[in-house]
Amino acid sequence: MHLNLDNKTALVSASTSGIGYAIAERLLQEGATVIIHGRGEATVAPAVAALADKYGAARVQSLVADLSVPGTEQEAAARFPQVDILVNNMGTYALKDFFSMTDADWQAMFDTNVWSGVRLARTYMKGMLERGHGRVIFISSEVALTPMASMAHYSASKATQLSISRSLAELTKGTAVTVNAVLPGPTETDSLKSFIQSVNPGLSYAEAERKFMDENRPSSLIYRLAKPAEVASVVGFLASEHAAVINGAAIRAEGGTVPTIA
Ligand SMILES: NC(=O)c1ccc[n+]([C@@H]2O[C@H](COP(=O)([O-])OP(=O)(O)OC[C@H]3O[C@@H](n4cnc5c(N)ncnc54)[C@H](OP(=O)(O)O)[C@@H]3O)[C@@H](O)[C@H]2O)c1
Repeated sequence: MHLNLDNKTALVSASTSGIGYAIAERLLQEGATVIIHGRGEATVAPAVAALADKYGAARVQSLVADLSVPGTEQEAAARFPQVDILVNNMGTYALKDFFSMTDADWQAMFDTNVWSGVRLARTYMKGMLERGHGRVIFISSEVALTPMASMAHYSASKATQLSISRSLAELTKGTAVTVNAVLPGPTETDSLKSFIQSVNPGLSYAEAERKFMDENRPSSLIYRLAKPAEVASVVGFLASEHAAVINGAAIRAEGGTVPTIA
């Protein structure tokens, strides 16, 4: 299936590695121009260089900014006034006992996971509505549906994204703009792989991953981590015309871990 994203400009927040990088690459494969975002030149430059090498420098732009800070979205807009596909991927997580979580912990989690996406949507979605076409995609998480006490702030931030995504979709009536959320489950990013290996130093990676699934995601149907490219395929589809009738939805890309039908 060709997704035909020629002449579209996409901004993928936190796209120097992990799921964001895979999404950026997927959109580039389909012809889009992609703005690679990260918080520092040290991570942005190598990601841009690697992608520019494969897809051509003209279609790979860079944005260095800490989008958890108010006002940075305006700096982004000054450089890139029009975005057709906005992927709010930036997000961090932390395991912490609820009673030890400070206000600052909660604030930082929401600044990164929620506020960055709210501000970017406020900046770019009006233009999409005026042009009558566009895509806003929030990368949430399965834990939005299965909140965890060990990550109460992360779980709440991911559930909040679903609410915002649906609210924004309500603004799109009668246009070809869509707003959706994608809910990945555990995904084989470098950071998660190293974590899984680090807590099981005596096991091979395959054994450690199996133990991780046994202990943490026994309800998974695929019974393995997702590949970043697999999550990116879902996002690429949603970004395309093929997904024109999917709007206001929360699309699970979590390997069947959440054991409910709705
Ligand atoms: N991996 C999973 O298992 C999983 C599961 C469900 C949902 N998700 C969601 O998917 C999205 C991407 O996650 P990921 O696992 O791909 O991320 P990741 O591998 O941990 O990091 C990807 C990028 O995010 C940026 N980043 C890392 N920590 C950050 C922070 N504290 N503040 C701002 N930016 C930060 C980094 O870019 P720079 O250093 O260049 O700024 C990094 O290149 C997130 O919203 C996450 O909640 C992930």
